[in-house]
Amino acid sequence: MKKLVILFVILAFLAGISCSREKAFSKIDLSGSWKFRTGDNLAWSKPDYSDSSWKEIKPGTIWEYQGYKKYDGFAWYRIRVNIPSAIQKNSAEKDSIQFLLGKIDDCDQVFLNGEMIGENGKTMYDNVPVTDEFTKVPDKWNVSRRYVLPVNDPRIKWNGENVIAVRVFDQAGAGGMFAKPFEISMVGLKDHVLFDFTSFAFKYLDDNHLQKDFTIINKSGKGDYNGNLSFTVFSYLNGNKLFEKEFPVTLKNGNKSTFSFSFKIDPQTQAYALVAFKENKSGQSVTEKLEVPYILTPKVSLEPRINSARIFGVRPWSPFQFKVAATGQAPLTYMADNLPDGLKIDGTNGIITGVLKQKGDYEVILKVRNSLGMATQNFKIKVGSTISLTPPMGWNSWNCWGLSVSDAKVRSSADYMKSSGLIDHGWTYINIDDGWEYQHDQDGNILTNSKFPDMKALCDYIHSIGLKIGIYSSPGTKTCGGYEGSYTFEDKDAAAYARWGIDYLKYDWCSYGSIAPNPNTEQMKHPYLVMEKALRAVNRDIHYSLCQYGMGDVWTWGASVDGNSWRTTGDIEDTWESMSTIGFSQGKCSPYSTPGRWNDPDMLVVGWVGWGPSLHNTGLTPNEQYTHITLWSLLSAPLLIGCDLSQLDPFTLNLLTNDEVNAIDQDPLGRQAKQSIANAEYQIWIKDLEDGSKAIGLFNLTENPLNIPVDLKPLNLPGRYSMRDLWRQKNLGQAETHFEMNVMPHGTVLLKLQKIK
Ligand code: GLA
Repeated sequence: MKKLVILFVILAFLAGISCSREKAFSKIDLSGSWKFRTGDNLAWSKPDYSDSSWKEIKPGTIWEYQGYKKYDGFAWYRIRVNIPSAIQKNSAEKDSIQFLLGKIDDCDQVFLNGEMIGENGKTMYDNVPVTDEFTKVPDKWNVSRRYVLPVNDPRIKWNGENVIAVRVFDQAGAGGMFAKPFEISMVGLKDHVLFDFTSFAFKYLDDNHLQKDFTIINKSGKGDYNGNLSFTVFSYLNGNKLFEKEFPVTLKNGNKSTFSFSFKIDPQTQAYALVAFKENKSGQSVTEKLEVPYILTPKVSLEPRINSARIFGVRPWSPFQFKVAATGQAPLTYMADNLPDGLKIDGTNGIITGVLKQKGDYEVILKVRNSLGMATQNFKIKVGSTISLTPPMGWNSWNCWGLSVSDAKVRSSADYMKSSGLIDHGWTYINIDDGWEYQHDQDGNILTNSKFPDMKALCDYIHSIGLKIGIYSSPGTKTCGGYEGSYTFEDKDAAAYARWGIDYLKYDWCSYGSIAPNPNTEQMKHPYLVMEKALRAVNRDIHYSLCQYGMGDVWTWGASVDGNSWRTTGDIEDTWESMSTIGFSQGKCSPYSTPGRWNDPDMLVVGWVGWGPSLHNTGLTPNEQYTHITLWSLLSAPLLIGCDLSQLDPFTLNLLTNDEVNAIDQDPLGRQAKQSIANAEYQIWIKDLEDGSKAIGLFNLTENPLNIPVDLKPLNLPGRYSMRDLWRQKNLGQAETHFEMNVMPHGTVLLKLQKIK
């Protein structure tokens, strides 16, 4: 028996060695340190160039996080690496080798032993300092870098030292190599068989069943693949297998095949599926992880509840419109005590309208009643010069419809805002982004294009629902989408907006770069001041949203041009890299957030998005979406849904209608959370709230569940606290000194801590 055990141990040991050896030789890891320097010199591509004085850098994170804050322009990365022929020997396919270099912001040329093996590049705005042809190719910053060479390419030194040199050009904002993977590997099955999980969302069937459809493409060009497809669901909590199914499939050469699995699962269970295709002939397999959505937001109570913001700013004489957002069993009756003269509330829909002529503060009590009871909420109206005293909540057309937006799509979005119930949770704005403009007529009036036959009628329709409407323009001659901008027509445009009944203007720098190339701060402010003056001249409160991607640290001066919000970054995309890089870099803007002045890390990328006529389900996992909404709420960010509202599934709707989470965003104090702890594994952000309590977001940056420790004293939180889980809307008892929370991969826990006296 003893001998058997020893034999078993030896065998297991050998198996371990052979496995790890195979692993070690099946790919070459490039995620360790590279050499780095800023500047540009083509001699740095040469293998015999000495980079010993260069600094070390990690490739998975932008250079701003590694000591090169605010650096834009050229920089080089270099690494020396042995390419053993064993990786070819161990591979089922032996023809091609690939260099996977994560993603690169913005563009790159890759050299192997001094010779270029590929490039990807961009120029996005007119003011790009074009230093050579390399920066003139199309936008590619968010594209995975994959450079493939035949194994007999003479530039590869098999079994010898190779120098990979990457020349990077960063136009603005984040720069350098990021995301993953960074490796050299042989091209194999995983590169030919591609899973697409975003063409279909999870479907909620009756009786706690979820259905997932997805496609697999065989793009090998090498014939059909026969094998087995398996779908196995595991609990994150205990690793238990919750569902398993496997069957034989043929993936036809060049074809896309659709598969469907349905399984029973409690809607709150945190789980993931491993989806695997194992090919018969080579024995190779490809496995992808797919997170299963889970719902945390409790069902809305039948008793009345008021969900709208507790403070509202308006200018004297401006038309007043505010809809009381409330949930509860219909019919609801809306009332307001102490409403100042000049305002009235419609008892059937809660829309307050009128005009207030005097500056001053009014304390109103809102009441909503149904057959089950009555809800009350204090509501402060501040008549003064500042509007948007809580961050705007609404919808914007860009992240779904792009330039294909139309009157019909905007109307139907407003209808869905109402029928989905979003309106009852405080979602208010329906914002038209780029794509509505035609040209200025002889008298300088801006004309809409044929997709928007009657802007005034559209605005009236949106207002009749109790919603507000936004529009988009550029201080340049052209918008980013190439439509007519406002340059020299600012007064006329502002007057048109007021005539139509517009409530929100997103004013996007775009082609203004050719009017003011390389602008200093004053030059950056100038076009925004011109439009500000035009907006102040009309008798309407129009939320003024600056969009210039954070240039010149706009958060430090956006208030001085009377901006109500300002984009702090470039455009967001529905990837973890994009959302998390933007979201977690907002700490620098925290001090500048205050009621009426909001940092805007760009719109939400949940639900069906796509930037054009064809849409896909967001590329963010369910946990990443919880992180997205939690982080944006902690940041007091404008919450602008960017998805097709006609396709809201229960997961997305629950994500957007958690009133305790939304209340963190809408807290009247208007403070932005501070990044209190940031390390490679997790972050903790803390936001001060009006009632003296704190909202605390714990974020897991790793790809596995993680226990996040919270030490209260170093966070400046001495004493005892009652603790509430806001997503679950559940009290968790008391906390003192230290506690820990298990947080899902790329996920979050959002807590409210109230000091116990
Ligand atoms: C820029 C903005 C986007 C969108 C488009 C419209 O890229 O950052 O949010 O408004 O322009 O063209």
